[in-house]
Amino acid sequence: MSNTATRKILVTSALPYANGAIHLGHLLEYIQTDIWVRFQKSRGQQCHYVCADDAHGTAIMLRAEQEGITSQALIERVSRDHQEDFARFGVAFDNYHSTHSDENRYFSELIYTRLRDKGHIATRDIEQMYDPQKGLFLADRFIKGTCPKCRTEDQYGDNCEACGATYTPAELINPVSAISGATPEIRSSTHYFFKLPDFVEFLQRWIDAGHVQPQIRNKLMEWFESGFNEWDISRDAPYFGFEIPDAPGKYFYVWLDAPIGYLASFKNLCDREGIDFDSYWAPDSDAEIYHFIGKDIVYFHALFWPAMLHGADFRTPTAVNCHGFVTVDGAKMSKSRGTFIKAATYADHLNPEYLRYYFAAKLTSGVDDLDLNLSDFAARVNSDLVGKVVNIASRCAGFVKKLGDSTLSAHCTQPDMLARFIAAGDVIAEDFESRDFGRAMRKVMELADEANTYIAEKEPWVLAKQPGHEQEVLEICSVGINLFRQLMVYLAPVVPAMAEQAREFLNLETLDWHSRHDVLFAHEIKKFKPLMTRVERDRIDAMIEASKEDLVVEQKLKAAPKGPLAEEPIAPEIGFEDFSKVDLRIVRIAKAEYVEGADKLLKLTLDLGGETRTVFSGIRSAYAPEALEGRLTIMVANLAPRKMRFGISEGMVLASANDEGIYLLSPDAGAEPGQRVT
Ligand code: MSP
Ligand code: ZN
Repeated sequence: MSNTATRKILVTSALPYANGAIHLGHLLEYIQTDIWVRFQKSRGQQCHYVCADDAHGTAIMLRAEQEGITSQALIERVSRDHQEDFARFGVAFDNYHSTHSDENRYFSELIYTRLRDKGHIATRDIEQMYDPQKGLFLADRFIKGTCPKCRTEDQYGDNCEACGATYTPAELINPVSAISGATPEIRSSTHYFFKLPDFVEFLQRWIDAGHVQPQIRNKLMEWFESGFNEWDISRDAPYFGFEIPDAPGKYFYVWLDAPIGYLASFKNLCDREGIDFDSYWAPDSDAEIYHFIGKDIVYFHALFWPAMLHGADFRTPTAVNCHGFVTVDGAKMSKSRGTFIKAATYADHLNPEYLRYYFAAKLTSGVDDLDLNLSDFAARVNSDLVGKVVNIASRCAGFVKKLGDSTLSAHCTQPDMLARFIAAGDVIAEDFESRDFGRAMRKVMELADEANTYIAEKEPWVLAKQPGHEQEVLEICSVGINLFRQLMVYLAPVVPAMAEQAREFLNLETLDWHSRHDVLFAHEIKKFKPLMTRVERDRIDAMIEASKEDLVVEQKLKAAPKGPLAEEPIAPEIGFEDFSKVDLRIVRIAKAEYVEGADKLLKLTLDLGGETRTVFSGIRSAYAPEALEGRLTIMVANLAPRKMRFGISEGMVLASANDEGIYLLSPDAGAEPGQRVT
């Protein structure tokens, strides 16, 4: 056992906005954090990982309005979606909360009033663009107009995409509100400011004390040189957020209460599990607190946030751990190229643990961007996880079953090699601790190479064919299984689902970091099942295609505020000839089955009155298979077959859908399978 005392650690990831889906860019952060947290837990530390949805602000309010639902309903739906996405990727928060919560209101008010009472809040009137039609002050990104420099039309807020000029919205020619199209007016209103300049010396010390990475410190130094302004923390009604206690009609700006959401989520966890909140957040706390964030939100986390905490008598974070941005195939994620990939779309096509491994293999403690190169992704996962790691177990398991009756040999013939594998855990642990996951993965793969070389040189499959060598083969393979077990301990924080299967196969209670010291002698193992299959290029391609389809759906939603016709306007006119090309037939659903690994699909066997067809249909959320069997519906019978991950779909059945459900079409009684629908 390690002789150092257990560390108390609180870890957070940035709170995702509640108005959009989780995508692969986000996932870099949540996967990075989750790996670090799992590593700490594996080492026996008392580690809590909390997050929440960032639920406030104008964007969310407008999005809800556009969808014709309340902000509350929107954030509840998005929160469910986010948590589902995170679960699919094995991101295991100890608590997932919301900034629109009682705890967050409490801490936002507390921090604000403490800052105010100490004189760190100022008020003054400012002039802003106002949309008279919507009755709303407009942030820069909600104003459009003609560029004052190059006269390109339809440019947003404060910069021109055509010529790169920057300006104030007031300088735009013919400015209009991007929300209503109305011409904005200039209006004055009182705003509340956090006096950041009061904290310049404190922040200078804090930043020099090693709480941020060197590259981030350099960036912050530039900001110090250009001086700090007071920070506008209020917004006028209507706003989805918390009203400022002593200022009716004024709301906390979303970025004021967002980081406070870390406290709120943790408090919510403490109340549920009886953890002492103050022992983490009081100024004299001996706990460690880490925030994982992307490089775009450093200003908020390394300046405003420590200043707010310090000014309100809370402790400040141990470190703000910043990462770079995800690019795909060398470019910014792009919706039209299909590389803006949502978490759910990825998980519909590919094993989430591939991505966890790939990110881990490329992550450093720095803030450089990380490129998801899709060919490299497939090659790396196939060669490392499948080719190297799983291979060890799959080469050895069969012989242990056959020659040892599933029991490993009673002594180890390679104690030195095994001791080296165990000792490597200390070095690998240092890499995990310092977030050099790439380095840790390289060391693990070097060990895997060594293990494979050992087995390849011993050639148990050759020996096994020669009588009298049974014990030797069992010994070689028992070494192999023990080495594999060491590797799985080191990989478990990265690929927890695969590790869980390996744990079952190895018939062990745990694969935590310390458990690796007990070498397995005369130990019974379970039946070996393939732990991970190869990445296939056609699934990657299908994911890219599906991402392009996501975009089409999104654009339809955007173009259309309310009602089915508005959401999806009638398509351009076609001639009767075009229509008659579509061969619609009455069919009987002969069989309906779940499709393993697809949570949206049902596999339908359709009887066309003589012929049968297999169709995969995305109606699982609305129909239980047994409820469908025997009923009639309508299919497109001459649609080109489509190769899907689960098989070939030979046509499609007709259904409509809205937020509440899916509605499969049925003919009136008397119709018969095979009849044409015209
Ligand atoms: N709501 C704020 C954070 C508030 S924290 C008190 C926010 N939300 S976000 O949804 O836009 O981003 C959440 C996290 O994902 C941020 O840390 C952000 O940097 C990160 N990423 C978003 N897109 C990313 C990439 N393309 N690549 C890597 N990280 C990315 O910001
Ligand atoms: Zn311009």
